[in-house]
Amino acid sequence: MNGKENKTALVTGANRGIGLAIARGLLQKGYEVIITSRSFDKATEAAKKLETLGQVIAIELDVSDDRSIDRAFETINQKIDRLDVLINNAGIYPDEGVNILTIDRELLELTLNTNTFGAIKMVQKFLPLLEQSPDARIINVSSSYGEINGLSANVPSYCLSKLALNGATIMLADALNSKGIVVNSICPGWVRTDMGGASAPRTPEQGADTAIWLATEASRKETGKFWRDRQVISY
Ligand SMILES: NC(=O)c1ccc[n+]([C@@H]2O[C@H](COP(=O)([O-])OP(=O)(O)OC[C@H]3O[C@@H](n4cnc5c(N)ncnc54)[C@H](OP(=O)(O)O)[C@@H]3O)[C@@H](O)[C@H]2O)c1
Repeated sequence: MNGKENKTALVTGANRGIGLAIARGLLQKGYEVIITSRSFDKATEAAKKLETLGQVIAIELDVSDDRSIDRAFETINQKIDRLDVLINNAGIYPDEGVNILTIDRELLELTLNTNTFGAIKMVQKFLPLLEQSPDARIINVSSSYGEINGLSANVPSYCLSKLALNGATIMLADALNSKGIVVNSICPGWVRTDMGGASAPRTPEQGADTAIWLATEASRKETGKFWRDRQVISY
């Protein structure tokens, strides 16, 4: 497999939920997709589910661990010569039973390290491959909990992590503008996944739609923005 004929996309946390739906949607549009997961077995299992749709590579990747990001890059760099799409989807929501007055530093660090710093480190590491694409796009999967008006004292680390992820989107878009790499945040809505729970109104496919659209069809003039249902929303 190489990036010469088809465009190549990498999705973090792609073994289940919205990440898996994004991977499926990109394969259906003819992209080669690198499915990454904290567990190699889970990445392989997810890749097997999707392999009839197109070219899939399974890679182990923990976005909270720089050594894991480095290892994934080394492996991927031997398989492709350019990366067209990076979807920073991996995330955790561990704020059960805590609020902004009680949460400890360890939980704040864990959530920020995964949801925010993971996305920033992925961009830094994979930049050499993104720079090889004439149409590179980065999509950060954020949340309405990261909107200024969506912050909740009872969801402290998750809200802060997505607020900061949106800040990272603005800064990365600015920093990468001269290289022609576009960067956007999306809110998938409330989605039926392990994180969203069984009561959520949206399917993973509905949650994945705006990310797939930004990755494949949206105007390249759009960068540094926050989107839901293919419309710009306020930070
Ligand atoms: N569901 C919703 O209603 C909703 C709403 C707004 C935003 N979002 C956002 O959408 C994204 C996907 O959420 P989801 O609903 O699909 O959740 P999910 O079903 O819980 O899936 C989360 C994914 O992230 C992976 N992950 C967690 N920590 C990781 C790490 N350190 N390194 C690499 N992968 C890691 C998980 O891998 P494992 O299988 O190894 O745990 C899993 O693949 C998240 O960023 C979430 O914040 C979801």
